[in-house]
Amino acid sequence: MNSKQLEIEEFADQFSYFPGTRYMGSKNKIIHNIWDILKEYEFNSFFDAFAGSNVVGYFMKSKGKRVYTNDFMTISYITAKAIIENSRVLLDSNDVDFLLNNSNKESYISQKFKDLYFTAQDNLFLDKVRFNTSMLKGKYKQAVALSALVRSCMKKNDQGVFSHLWAIDMTMGEKTSESRCKITSLTMFPYLTKQFLTMVTLVKHTTHQLKN
Ligand SMILES: C[S@@+](CC[C@H](N)C(=O)[O-])C[C@H]1O[C@@H](n2cnc3c(N)ncnc32)[C@H](O)[C@@H]1O
Repeated sequence: MNSKQLEIEEFADQFSYFPGTRYMGSKNKIIHNIWDILKEYEFNSFFDAFAGSNVVGYFMKSKGKRVYTNDFMTISYITAKAIIENSRVLLDSNDVDFLLNNSNKESYISQKFKDLYFTAQDNLFLDKVRFNTSMLKGKYKQAVALSALVRSCMKKNDQGVFSHLWAIDMTMGEKTSESRCKITSLTMFPYLTKQFLTMVTLVKHTTHQLKN
């Protein structure tokens, strides 16, 4: 967060928009207990070490604290860029249209993760949108779009954090991608559009918080 540009004040409702996470070890359920302890202390900035889902950092941001985060996992870093560091930049309808409809020839996910987590149709969709995120102008738009894309994969993936075990079963031939399709009959598309809205809501509420 750039201290010269931003002055943030407490915004009571903001945290209520933070969605459930499927992040192993997330402090989502105990964040109010953590706050009960920390609120006794006077502080203006907060370091969310090993930020994971970023729930703690977002909570502190909603309390008007200047937040710093770290995590070596890329999706944690990207989500922090999208909703902790960024307090202004949203995806507009042109961005969403571009992300969903701009055709490209990307095929990394389709090849690398064939028959593992998602159907061939979903993999093609993920390839297309993933490439298009990198074409958006500006690091915050890219971060918002990519966080939404990864969140949609986590939401659709009903094995949650243990999906690698499912993938091993499939690699061993004990389950098939068809059996997985029966469980999750919706395509990735509605999951992603919902996550676009979630991310935009999270940023929008921090925008309300800015003083200038
Ligand atoms: C239990 S999770 C953190 C949960 C987080 N507080 C939340 O509420 O979502 C632990 C995190 O530490 C990160 N991590 C582990 N070792 C790390 C290291 N040496 N440097 C940076 N991040 C690390 C992992 O990537 C993981 O996201």
